[in-house]
Amino acid sequence: MRIEGRPYRTIWTEADRKVRVIDQTRLPHEFVVADLPDLEAAAVAIETMLVRGAPLIGGTAAYGMALAMLADPSDTGVEQAYQRLMRTRPTAVNLRWGLERMRAVLLAEAPSGRVDRAFAEAASICDEDVEICAAIGRHGLDLIREVAKRKGGGPVNVLTHCNAGWLATIDRGTATAPVYAAREEGIDLHVWVDETRPRNQGASLTAYELLHEEVPHTIIADNVGGHLMQHGQVDLCIVGTDRTTRTGDVANKIGTYLKALAADANEVPFYVALPSTTIDWRIRDGVKEIPIEQRADRELTHVTGRDALGKLHTVQITNPGSPGGNWAFDVTPARYVTGLITERGVAAAKEESLVAMFPEQAKGG
Ligand code: MRU
Repeated sequence: MRIEGRPYRTIWTEADRKVRVIDQTRLPHEFVVADLPDLEAAAVAIETMLVRGAPLIGGTAAYGMALAMLADPSDTGVEQAYQRLMRTRPTAVNLRWGLERMRAVLLAEAPSGRVDRAFAEAASICDEDVEICAAIGRHGLDLIREVAKRKGGGPVNVLTHCNAGWLATIDRGTATAPVYAAREEGIDLHVWVDETRPRNQGASLTAYELLHEEVPHTIIADNVGGHLMQHGQVDLCIVGTDRTTRTGDVANKIGTYLKALAADANEVPFYVALPSTTIDWRIRDGVKEIPIEQRADRELTHVTGRDALGKLHTVQITNPGSPGGNWAFDVTPARYVTGLITERGVAAAKEESLVAMFPEQAKGG
């Protein structure tokens, strides 16, 4: 997607086999490209959310394995890299998916061929994600088209939570892919953007990318969604997910569950866009089985922003001395999900629908 009119992916390599990423901790205030020279840098980038979003975490972990092969292509090197990267973040299942794929491919290769093989496989993982997101966009576009036709005029109002945009993937995004496809088709649409706490990722990242892609949007506080739905100002919600059970329960950025409850109460369709790499075929009960990350309370107690002179400051906004609790994700049970927009089409949030759509993957569960 574009920044200042120039196309970017969120992660790429250059001839020197260095891996480069957009430092998302600096957005929206500064656009900075960071180098990931080795395994440890890749692991720290995921931990500190320099890169984030389920598919991008998977892609970065894959490149982390490749970088590890430069230093130690032995079986022990493969296993140690796998273990180090697995510890970085707990909720997004794309991490495990990407690492398992890389480990299997590398162990099947002689150590002398592992560097080339690892960089090629990591590149394939990223290229496939781009294709998948484009397909999600095409299927989600059908839904937006239907709403536009039904409304017969005026913008289609989409509400999205957090950043499931191109910054969370390699390109195009999951929840935003249908938005970009609709925009390219000339459909009049407008996006309500939230996740204003704890990390402001809607306000910082989704708003940043929509602005650069010239998609009309409005930042709203996290608590506004229910009010807008009551007043008919949301036609559909589309959010992303970090782990979806085979039964269609969905873990996503904290606050997603409350949006789904409000959508249900107001009969607003609530869609979740996801690549099949985000389905955890091993589990059925999201509330009981999906590990929910808890992050440092500083993300809640402090914010960073620019002053009138353009200088960046981090300030505390909560009562000094009071502890904070910072749950990063919640689980929306399948019964609140209208449909799952995948690369193969829109599935009902039900085990039989997901299994019918991805029979070869479901077998592994
Ligand atoms: O904590 P993050 O920023 O990695 O979580 C991001 C989200 O919750 C996204 O909605 C998500 O990863 C969806 S994937 C495009």
